[in-house]
Amino acid sequence: MTQTMAEGLVETGHGGLIAQDWNALTFRVNREAYRSAEVFQAERDRIWNNSWLYLGHETEIPKNHDYKVRTLGGKPLIFVRGGDGVVRAFLNSCPHRGTVVCRDEAGNARNFQCFYHAWTFNSSGKLSALPGDDAYAELDRFKGSMDLRPVAKLDIHEGFVFVSFSPDVPPLLEHLGDAADVLSMAAEQSATGMTTLPGIQRYGVKGNWKLAVENAMDGYHFSPTHNTFVGYLRETGFPVTDDDQYAYDLGNGHSMLVLTGHNGRLGMIWEPRFGEAEKERTRLNREAMAARLGQERADTIGDASRILFVWPNLLFFDLEALTIRQLEPVAPGRTDVRAWQYVPTDEDEDVRAMRLKTMTSFVGPGGLATPDDIEAYEAVQRGIEASKGDARGFNDWSDMSRGMEREAKGEKGRSIDEGAMRSFWRHWDQALGAVPGLKATTYESGC
Ligand code: FES
Ligand code: FE
Repeated sequence: MTQTMAEGLVETGHGGLIAQDWNALTFRVNREAYRSAEVFQAERDRIWNNSWLYLGHETEIPKNHDYKVRTLGGKPLIFVRGGDGVVRAFLNSCPHRGTVVCRDEAGNARNFQCFYHAWTFNSSGKLSALPGDDAYAELDRFKGSMDLRPVAKLDIHEGFVFVSFSPDVPPLLEHLGDAADVLSMAAEQSATGMTTLPGIQRYGVKGNWKLAVENAMDGYHFSPTHNTFVGYLRETGFPVTDDDQYAYDLGNGHSMLVLTGHNGRLGMIWEPRFGEAEKERTRLNREAMAARLGQERADTIGDASRILFVWPNLLFFDLEALTIRQLEPVAPGRTDVRAWQYVPTDEDEDVRAMRLKTMTSFVGPGGLATPDDIEAYEAVQRGIEASKGDARGFNDWSDMSRGMEREAKGEKGRSIDEGAMRSFWRHWDQALGAVPGLKATTYESGC
């Protein structure tokens, strides 16, 4: 909806939960977006049931019959490599009466047997046996219709496996758009390929999933929130700057920060805390990359850190080391997070050890950054209760106006502006539309 207010043109979005004023150069988000059960349910229906979602990496299930169970958008799934080597994803729900078929977290199994009535499915999802099958008419036809139910769509880009519960989605590469090449840049970092390491970092956050997206796309918070880490970098002799760092709207809800001033990157940019031995290895690695990929591509991959958000549930950190992070909203104020380390397959043991130490020291759940970030978005979730139902002015609206003037002039967005958040919220608003039954203060009441 667009309307003219006293101070100028205000666009209040499809559901009235975002408001951008191109005259006052302000952008605001109604806090019901983080709190409301109606919004959460609408997101489940219109976003999570209606979009490509990141499921996992194919190297998590390297051998035939390897499987992982995983919940996406509240739906339990089995992520499995069949006996034919094909990666598939099935609803973890028995076609007989709906029971969760696989109740283990992970493993290697030629068959999944439902414990309730002992129907048995092979790792390609085929119903192979059911007890007392002589009581079914037209047994072959019946059995043929009772295989495990696959997700509506599954496709893989550079080993990153995406699924959709709706068949009505564009081809994966069309959905990924410019984000596809950013994932390729990560996949190209080793001549022998990249892999996820076994093991997942899992934690629950008492905050809405969109706060996790905002936080990852928010260079503004870096220095104040992570002052311990910034101080540590300074002490080790590594300069830290917010200059010349940018935020990009990649379209389709995806966004990216490109950072050159915060930290070293293992194998790419040396910094003192990596130790002297790593200096020469980094130089040789960059030389080899340039020979393999060409100087320009190697420099693009190696010279900057990137934080990529792939709509709606994948955050990819190509920083000091590489981390895949998946968001699973479980309630308006609760999000489960899962993270994997993504590493070159051919890495020496001591480099691998340093990579893991470096990674856990920053973006791991016990690192110098992530606990700060979690506290920040949990504090937001607690704080926004204060303005609930407060119709005075813009008391119940969060502000993301930083850098609007640069955006209005068509200038490149800085990482310390809030442009990547605005592009996320604009896409969210489009995807969500109006939310039935929602009570929120209107923007007009504050004007
Ligand atoms: Fe699975 Fe009956 S519900 S066999
Ligand atoms: Fe942070």
